[in-house]
Amino acid sequence: MKALLEFIPPEDWDLAQAIDAARLPAHIAIIMDGNGRWARRRRLPRVAGHQAGVGPVRSTVEMCSHLGLRVLTLYAFSLENWKRPRTEVDTLWRLLGYYLRQELPDLQKNDIRLQAIGRLEALPPLVRRELESAVAATANNRGLLVNLAINYSGRAEIVDAVNSILEIARLDGSIGSLKLDEELISSNLYTAVFPDPDLLIRTSGEMRISNFLLWQIAYAELYVTETLWPDFTRRDLLLAILEYQKRDRRYGGLSTGPEGPRHVHDVPKTDDEALIEMLRPS
Ligand code: FPP
Repeated sequence: MKALLEFIPPEDWDLAQAIDAARLPAHIAIIMDGNGRWARRRRLPRVAGHQAGVGPVRSTVEMCSHLGLRVLTLYAFSLENWKRPRTEVDTLWRLLGYYLRQELPDLQKNDIRLQAIGRLEALPPLVRRELESAVAATANNRGLLVNLAINYSGRAEIVDAVNSILEIARLDGSIGSLKLDEELISSNLYTAVFPDPDLLIRTSGEMRISNFLLWQIAYAELYVTETLWPDFTRRDLLLAILEYQKRDRRYGGLSTGPEGPRHVHDVPKTDDEALIEMLRPS
């Protein structure tokens, strides 16, 4: 946390100091939404919103790195985004290339590893080469893992995982006895080696998941802010983490906080007895 205070301006120290370093999310995933609305409000073309969205990508990556998080996944381009006008799609590819070229020295300096998830084979060849070269250049870094979701769809990811399980089983002759389970599917997702997101942030106020990490967010805490992505600041990120730290994560079990019993065995005997009494046939 000391490293973080050295990095952020004094006006953000109040929020940074309120963060419990022992309860940080290991993995934050972000749906970066609202670039178009940001531009429209300024009577600018939509692409100006995407351009303005690069700054918050940079500052969020830096913050997560200084906070010591393990993984940050950013939804940069969905499989469905190809439906947008050609000029907008081309601009998004150009911005990605620009980001990779600009940021590589800082990624290296901060020991940040870059990865990408999605159907990357469909990317324009130049962008794909730039991406592969940035991924290779940072492969030995051991700090924050920045995972860019590009040409990504949560449903397509699950389909791809199941198809790759089938393919392997066909090749090794085990298809007849193949039985799927959660572990087998998880280990064949694009995200096989990362922990599931603890916190999913969506900017611009929409209450949707938009086909993002459908399998992995089963128990993620959701945080939706009205802030449009180009306006997303370090403070917004700190506020999201503080809100996450207030949540009581139960994973379908019972509360661990002062308001609830930790395990079913901790339910006071009298409650059990009262319930049994109530359910007894009369
Ligand atoms: C959604 O806003 C945003 C996107 C489809 C693209 C996100 C891209 C960036 C933030 C640019 C840079 C990214 C990287 C990784 C360098 P929208 O266009 O759907 O906004 P709207 O809902 O207001 O129209």
